[in-house]
Amino acid sequence: MKIAVLGTGYVGLSTGVCLSEIGHNVTCIDINKEKIKHLRQGILPIYEPGLEALLASNITAGRLRFTTDRKELKDKEIIIIAVGTPQREDGEADLSYIEQAAKDISGYIAESSIIVIKSTVPVGTNEYIKKTIEKECGFSIQIISNPEFLRQGSAIHDTMNADRIIIGYENKAAAMKLQEMYRPLNLPILLTSIRSAEMIKYASNAFLATKISFINAMANICEAVGANIEDVAQGMGKDKRIGEAFLKPGIGYGGSCFPKDVEVLHHTASLYGINSSLLKETIEINESQKDLLVKKALIRFGKLKGKKITMLGLAFKPDTDDMREAPSINIARSLTSLGAEVVAYDPAAMINAKGILGDKILFANSVDEAVWNADALFIVTEWQEFQQLNLPTVLKKMKHPIIFDGRNCFKEDRIKACETIEYYSIGRPDM
Ligand code: UGA
Repeated sequence: MKIAVLGTGYVGLSTGVCLSEIGHNVTCIDINKEKIKHLRQGILPIYEPGLEALLASNITAGRLRFTTDRKELKDKEIIIIAVGTPQREDGEADLSYIEQAAKDISGYIAESSIIVIKSTVPVGTNEYIKKTIEKECGFSIQIISNPEFLRQGSAIHDTMNADRIIIGYENKAAAMKLQEMYRPLNLPILLTSIRSAEMIKYASNAFLATKISFINAMANICEAVGANIEDVAQGMGKDKRIGEAFLKPGIGYGGSCFPKDVEVLHHTASLYGINSSLLKETIEINESQKDLLVKKALIRFGKLKGKKITMLGLAFKPDTDDMREAPSINIARSLTSLGAEVVAYDPAAMINAKGILGDKILFANSVDEAVWNADALFIVTEWQEFQQLNLPTVLKKMKHPIIFDGRNCFKEDRIKACETIEYYSIGRPDM
């Protein structure tokens, strides 16, 4: 099939690359000339394991192209819109990029093209975009809501092995065409109304975020009563109705999706006068979770002025360079405002972190450099590199062997094997 993908962010790029990998003829379109120039050369604008190799092989095979030229839309059977929908100050979704994309493509699309919205958009937006395009192009179009569930860091795996594909439609033939596009993946497909499809995306992200806030709330209770959240989560997760995934306690969820989507859903509910205090609580628990490590350090040290604190990990989660809504930002700012000297290291997110935190903190080139002479070590992101650290070697380099682990990277036996360590984690007894 001849497919165009509009927007070359995480979702657009991963979708475009994966669709070309399963044999489609894909043209990715973006207004950013520099980005397109790099992508043509096989250079990625993002850090995403495995994506670069697939990008290169599909460009070479002639199935994947990049352009800024919207005239290329003319002969496309399917046009996928995957531009960003960030959050506005007032809590609503900022639809300006998708509105602009809708207007931009109107002069170039064929009557037979099916427009597929992959961007996460509030309920009713697909209908609004359909009307916007129709007003501009003068004929009626077919629109499909096809939300995306891939995670950063495992984008290819998640696209190729998705748990489900949601097709929200009003025209049966258009829905069948999209089913045909996905057929090589052989994945479960659920056909729904457009509004239900839009809602499925928000409800899924809100549920996962709530699951995280729930386990974090339980972790805090575990600390108070002397239980171990790892055992509690394992015991809960064995119940198939609860499930083992997304019960990992920590210093809060971040990224470009959960924080924004829960806020937007909460906002949508309030627009309709619906009580969504559950979502508000999810957000509030998450916010207070970000302060946990600093609170624990304050209890331990009394004050942090003049203390050298090392932060290992800056990205909102491992295997990404994304710093959006990363708990590390709050932690670094709290520490510096309390007068601590902060040195940070992250395997991938240093450039993005420098853009946000500037010269407020120091950036080290390696774990060794970061931990040298530190009064305490904060583990903020659970990169594999940190989980595999040789703890005795790290502790020797520090001034005091004190670790505040925000991601429970180490099992009890590894901690117990270190003679001098003082170890604080989330929802587990201090060691
Ligand atoms: C999330 C969803 O998982 C995807 O299904 C969805 O497509 C995507 O948002 C989106 O809406 O585009 P992502 O933000 O890439 O994907 O990352 P996740 O792996 O879901 O992690 C989100 C946050 O939750 C991270 O900060 C992570 O550290 C945190 N988390 C996750 C926990 O604190 N505990 C857990 O058990 C799981």
